[in-house]
Amino acid sequence: MIFLKNDYGLGAHPKILQALVDHNMTLSNSYCNDTFCQDTTAQVRELIQCPTADVFYFSGGTQTNKVCLSAFLRPYEAVIAAESSHIGVHETGAIEATGHKCILVPSADGKILPEQVDHVVAFHNFDQMVLPKVVYISNTTEVGTIYSKAEIQALRACCDKHGLYLYIDGARMAMAMASADCGMTFADYAALADAFYIGGTKCGALFGELLVIVNDALKPNFRYVMRQNGALFAKGMLIGMQFGPLLKDGLYEQLGKHANTLALDLASRMAAKGFKFHYQPQSNQIFPIVTKELADKLAEKVMYEVTFDNGDGTLTVRFVTSWASTQEDIDGLVALL
Ligand SMILES: Cc1ncc(COP(=O)(O)O)c(C=O)c1O
Repeated sequence: MIFLKNDYGLGAHPKILQALVDHNMTLSNSYCNDTFCQDTTAQVRELIQCPTADVFYFSGGTQTNKVCLSAFLRPYEAVIAAESSHIGVHETGAIEATGHKCILVPSADGKILPEQVDHVVAFHNFDQMVLPKVVYISNTTEVGTIYSKAEIQALRACCDKHGLYLYIDGARMAMAMASADCGMTFADYAALADAFYIGGTKCGALFGELLVIVNDALKPNFRYVMRQNGALFAKGMLIGMQFGPLLKDGLYEQLGKHANTLALDLASRMAAKGFKFHYQPQSNQIFPIVTKELADKLAEKVMYEVTFDNGDGTLTVRFVTSWASTQEDIDGLVALL
């Protein structure tokens, strides 16, 4: 089978697994108070050029989003996000379950615009409505599109105008950073976001996400919130151990680039055959439109997800490449098509 279902179907990049093997018998302090996490925190502060940032170690993305947003918002405050966003559609209402409304705005390309934020803020204009306080975006977006640096700068300016926090979900930050359409460095994320996370699970780690809190107002007692939510990991050293090599010598960006290159090769070869895409292919997740008949045939040899039934005999499907995908996977799929 050709595996294009997601970017976390295999273990970890060999360098990361090797680090885990090498340090398997290194006795460590618990709950991220170990030397691996301390070293990785220092490495991250240097990479993002922000010596005062706080860094926290999480096991997964939903957990990171849920803990952050519930910690950053007061009880009556709400988060603004795209209607296709991960928190909007793929977290089983995790944010709403913490008592906070997600104000979801329409989006054809997975992104939100400053004008939409302006509109939401203007609409929520008295104390019988929730108070918007955080803008949530992910880069890459849930539909594989990319926010450029200019777009994130515009959202930052909009957040400043309204006194909102900007929180960036970087589950696939490696792919965003590797994209020529993005132009964001680690330091740019620290300069433009109040908090963001550097994704590991989908970017070659065995598991784990690194949350970076830049804004001092969001830092106090954060470990208490993590612990109360079951998110302070006893074996936190395993996350620190993985991110050391992942963030060293450009490996993170290389893995993102590898995944993007294969997906975009597939997209251009499909486009040459006349296939259309639901969203502009920009990163490692692409969403071609195929007939149901073709989808059924492909499913015999390819593992992929169906995203929507378009109701006209066609399906929008999702092909995802990862750090571990190969050119043979892509050539094999193109041959089948
Ligand atoms: C943008 C984004 N954020 C968060 C997550 C959640 O990750 P997890 O499944 O580890 O909770 C995902 C997972 O697909 C994602 O794509």
